[in-house]
Amino acid sequence: MARFIDELKRTHHCAQLRASDEGKTVVLFGWVSSYRDHGGCVFIDLRDREGVTQLVFDPELAGHGDQPRATHDLARALRSEWVVAVQGVVKGRGANKNSRLPTGEIEVHGFELFVFNKSETPPFEIADSIDTSEEKRLQYRYLDLRRAPLQRTLRVRHRIHQITRRYFDDNGFLELETPVMVKYTPGGARNFLVPSRMNAGKFYALAESPQLFKQLYMVAGFDKYFQIVKCFRDEDLRLDRQPEFTQIDVEMSFVNQDDVFRVMEGLVFGIWKEVLGVDLKELYPSGRFPQMPFDESMAKYGNDKPDVRFDLPHVDITRVVVDHGGGGVPFWKTIADKLSAGDAHRDAVTDIVKALRVPAELAGKMSRAEIEKLEEFVKGMGAKGLARAKVDAEGNWVQSPLAKMITPELRLAINARVEARDGDLVLFQFGRESVVQTVMANLRIHLAKKLGLIPDSGHGGKWKFLWVVNPPLFEYDDERKTWVAAHHAFTRPHDDCIDRLEKDPGKVLCWRYDLVLNGFEIGGGSIRLHDPAVQAKVFRTLGISDEDARSKFGFLLDALKYGAPPHGGIAIGMDRLSMLLSGSESLRDVIPFPKTQRGTDLMTDAPNVVSPEQLAELKIRVVEPPAGA
Ligand code: AMO
Repeated sequence: MARFIDELKRTHHCAQLRASDEGKTVVLFGWVSSYRDHGGCVFIDLRDREGVTQLVFDPELAGHGDQPRATHDLARALRSEWVVAVQGVVKGRGANKNSRLPTGEIEVHGFELFVFNKSETPPFEIADSIDTSEEKRLQYRYLDLRRAPLQRTLRVRHRIHQITRRYFDDNGFLELETPVMVKYTPGGARNFLVPSRMNAGKFYALAESPQLFKQLYMVAGFDKYFQIVKCFRDEDLRLDRQPEFTQIDVEMSFVNQDDVFRVMEGLVFGIWKEVLGVDLKELYPSGRFPQMPFDESMAKYGNDKPDVRFDLPHVDITRVVVDHGGGGVPFWKTIADKLSAGDAHRDAVTDIVKALRVPAELAGKMSRAEIEKLEEFVKGMGAKGLARAKVDAEGNWVQSPLAKMITPELRLAINARVEARDGDLVLFQFGRESVVQTVMANLRIHLAKKLGLIPDSGHGGKWKFLWVVNPPLFEYDDERKTWVAAHHAFTRPHDDCIDRLEKDPGKVLCWRYDLVLNGFEIGGGSIRLHDPAVQAKVFRTLGISDEDARSKFGFLLDALKYGAPPHGGIAIGMDRLSMLLSGSESLRDVIPFPKTQRGTDLMTDAPNVVSPEQLAELKIRVVEPPAGA
């Protein structure tokens, strides 16, 4: 190796050479991407992280180096993914230019070659698009990462990191670290636990976010904090959830919600401009993202992360149905009777009826069979069925199981409420609110994809940001029959809701907000509760006794007593941001070493068993799961 690396330093990377470099003697390092032996000349595509350069080894090449023949023989032996060094001369390719490559005007005629390392035949081709299973790609992730699409994605992440650091530094934020091994505190996502050898029988939790520590930084007077930080959550995984993920975490003192929004909007505008060359000012001339109240989002879209790249809103028709006593439809009568009788927690646990109108010009694109298939789709999500009606010019319902039962009055009232016109298709869901909302939210997205309103994955060139604001502070836990914090117990309620804390918890709104992009929650945060008196009331509503509160959050409650400034913050999911920005389908495409859906690392085989000695040291006994579990 002595000559290359020690004496012969790399002069260029593999995407750098142009026609203007003709005649130069250059040194390149990289991997053999492909090889072709044309009897006489050997052609090699040499690849590094920047791109590809064509090398030529010509047995007749004279006048350079002292061993052209030996070099040529070695070139003939090269195979895919060998890692090599070459010294050669840049020559023009004349009529044989490759216009698809930035280096396509030239080739390097090698006269000195060195093999740093051979490679076994890789389990899959290192090419832009391959149809190898994801399991195999994850098992050999270091090879997968050699592929250009992943190299590009990780470079985008690098850019986002640099822009973020520069932006916050320019705006007076300090990048401060917080511990990863922390005390377990209840609420929020489920934690991973870490046993302590020195305190056998006791456990740390891996931080699900730096939440409490960043608040303590505010109490400590640091004023503006940010961190690009790993967080850990033992949740069920989905395409947009990993057990180990990265947040851009922010906290600020002496701010209101709007101040937090402005800071984050500035960051997002900057990232889009620098990474994608997209000026979001053209879409949002005020420099601000629109805001939507949580209630409106739930009513129109069924969740708090609506994709507003397309319309297709839901219409809540519960009121109309109740006012008509169910209008002859047996299921609806049950709901109407229940709701008019009143329910102890009517605002929290209730039945609803929702409709989704597909306008004629879109409904016309779907065959009857396709419309029937929608029912299978919703059943897959736990719905009992999908009632539907085609509306004709007179406002009659055809192709509808409801048509024979429904009273003309309710039919017309619903037509008016959903603004149905000739040829429209109206889809209905009714029953438990949580199920109806989830089913209708997913149905809306499913329809939009089917009807080509949005692509199956990726942004389709559209960027629809919005802040979802003013959600309720509490939600009702139907199983435990108690109120729980919808986010966490340290979110500040709206001042005008404080007197409802004890009387009517379901109606308490709070300063919590989510940033949504194309139907994904990319960030969330809140203005915090820094007033101990209101904090005590919130705990009371949650049924948390003073003692309980002390044992769970004692350190924060203490800190809040020593001059805590008003403060608030937010965390953006860096992985989700990268996924959406790069049009990737899954977080696994933007995380260098991700876990599978089952939380495993196929490359290192984690998690794994440990020795009985290690367990003994930790005073832990593993209980065998029952057979078949
Ligand atoms: P929250 O729990 O809303 O807020 O998380 C903030 C953002 O982090 C991303 N995110 C995830 N990304 C990948 N995999 C996961 N498992 C995962 N979970 C969350 C999402 C989400 O919007 N401490 C608060 C923030 C605050 O209040 O300041 C918090 O963590 O994009």
